[in-house]
Amino acid sequence: MEQPSRRIQPKHWLLAVVHLGSLVPLARFGWLAWQGQLGFNPVETALRASGRTAVLLLLLSLAITPLRKILNLAIVQPLRKPLGLYSALYAGLHFAAFAAWDYGLDLGLIWLEFTQKPFLLLGLGALVILVVLALTSTRGWQKRLRSGWRWLQRSVYLAAVLAVAHYLLAVKGDLFTLQGDYTRPLLAAGALLLLFLLRLPGLQGWLQDRLRRE
Ligand code: HEM
Repeated sequence: MEQPSRRIQPKHWLLAVVHLGSLVPLARFGWLAWQGQLGFNPVETALRASGRTAVLLLLLSLAITPLRKILNLAIVQPLRKPLGLYSALYAGLHFAAFAAWDYGLDLGLIWLEFTQKPFLLLGLGALVILVVLALTSTRGWQKRLRSGWRWLQRSVYLAAVLAVAHYLLAVKGDLFTLQGDYTRPLLAAGALLLLFLLRLPGLQGWLQDRLRRE
């Protein structure tokens, strides 16, 4: 009789890696804060670290389905949800750093910032979508919303577009002449464009064929 395998399923390993990897930036930030090493402007450090991590995790969560389809890697599919949830967590922390730490929850001042800096409205749009998706990601909501749930989940792409646009416009520089530090936001925009291209069935089929032949 075949002995039941005592090895941990790769899925669990992968999930553990995703949980640990997603919490590393938070732990690192806590450690640096503890050591008093958040630099000259700790709020800016917090905003940058949380915003960048939120975008990175969002892009990784969007990369899961193309990875599964093109490389035929079903094993990665369960990673999509935790990556999306961690992205929403970091986006929430990012907003908390902005509203509570930077502006001391002064609603008048916060409102003024939103009316004067349009890139904040893009961030707000992304945040609202990510929070709604996180709250409705349970099986209960999936049943309640039926086919509407899948449509709602697709708005994650809109959240990504808004977040990357917010990232590009947050740079203190000139987007048209690219004077300023645009390297990271442009890399994020390029990655998002690639993810959109990988959704095209024609390109997916072509890549699958090529990879199978090799
Ligand atoms: C109401 C919602 C949001 C507010 C008020 C907000 C606010 C800000 C502010 C003030 C900055 C400039 C920080 C600096 O001085 O350099 C910033 C940058 C940034 N935000 Fe947001 N944000 C919001 C939502 C989001 C969301 C949802 C994401 C990602 C999913 C995000 C990602 C980023 C990124 C990547 C940066 C640039 C960090 C860098 O300079 O490298 N933000 N945000």
